[in-house]
Amino acid sequence: MEVKGVSFSYNSVEPTLKNVSFTIQKNKINTIVGPNGSGKSTLLEIMARLIAPESGEVLLAGKSIFEWKPKNFAQNVAIVHQNNVLPNELTVKELLYFGRLPYKNWRMTQNKEDDLAVERALIRTELTEKADKRIDSLSGGERQRVFVATALVQETPILLLDEPTTFLDMYYQLEILELIKRLNEEEKLTIVMVLHDLNQALTYSDQLIVMKDGEVAAKGDPNELLTTELIAETYGVYVHILDDKNTGKYIVPQRRKEI
Ligand SMILES: Nc1ncnc2c1ncn2[C@@H]1O[C@H](COP(=O)(O)OP(=O)(O)OP(=O)(O)O)[C@@H](O)[C@H]1O
Ligand SMILES: [Mg+2]
Repeated sequence: MEVKGVSFSYNSVEPTLKNVSFTIQKNKINTIVGPNGSGKSTLLEIMARLIAPESGEVLLAGKSIFEWKPKNFAQNVAIVHQNNVLPNELTVKELLYFGRLPYKNWRMTQNKEDDLAVERALIRTELTEKADKRIDSLSGGERQRVFVATALVQETPILLLDEPTTFLDMYYQLEILELIKRLNEEEKLTIVMVLHDLNQALTYSDQLIVMKDGEVAAKGDPNELLTTELIAETYGVYVHILDDKNTGKYIVPQRRKEI
């Protein structure tokens, strides 16, 4: 997938995205970071074809995503939004069957393939035991896994995840990140995710894309990219970076830059 010179504004006052370009590394974990309001979610929605850019384009396999038939596109790219609302009255399994719609036309009913995809999504997110539970009876961590399962059930090679760890405690944050890593390593899924925690971004990403004010401030190998200068410039925060031979880099925020 390739984002080429994408610009977009919600209103005429201030553009939200300005000439954004980068290439998603296939079969890798690509992480987008950046301050609140820098345009990360908007960018993900554009990549998911939910909003059209004003200029520029997003290519999938060399072809503009708007040239893809909606159904074929949905078989390739699945998105998990930042502010997800789950329908409480459904069970986990009932919800997951909705994710199979990209594979159906109006007269098709559930088939063996759907059953298998739902079963696989449940196993991959370790939700098999919760399959028949109502969604409103689940914990925050379990709900977050349900979000990921709704994307997995579409069996797409590309997953877009907007802040998959929000609202989770340390334990469940790591659980979700380890799940994402497993999906990438074992099933070769291409991951594009938005994270806020720079240390998690360091640990889990192959490529990092740093957004600031609607522009790409930097992109590349997270270990080389995340310097004290770049972080001060992007976030307005001075940090210490501890560099340990065994555990790698670790970023510790110190204080805000004087304005
Ligand atoms: N539906 C909308 N209508 C108008 N403006 C919007 C809309 N959604 C987002 N914006 C504005 O666009 C800018 C970018 O928002 P976006 O949600 O893409 O940022 P973000 O980087 O995802 O932020 P966060 O880290 O807080 O999730 C912000 O200034 C926001 O106020
Ligand atoms: Mg966002």
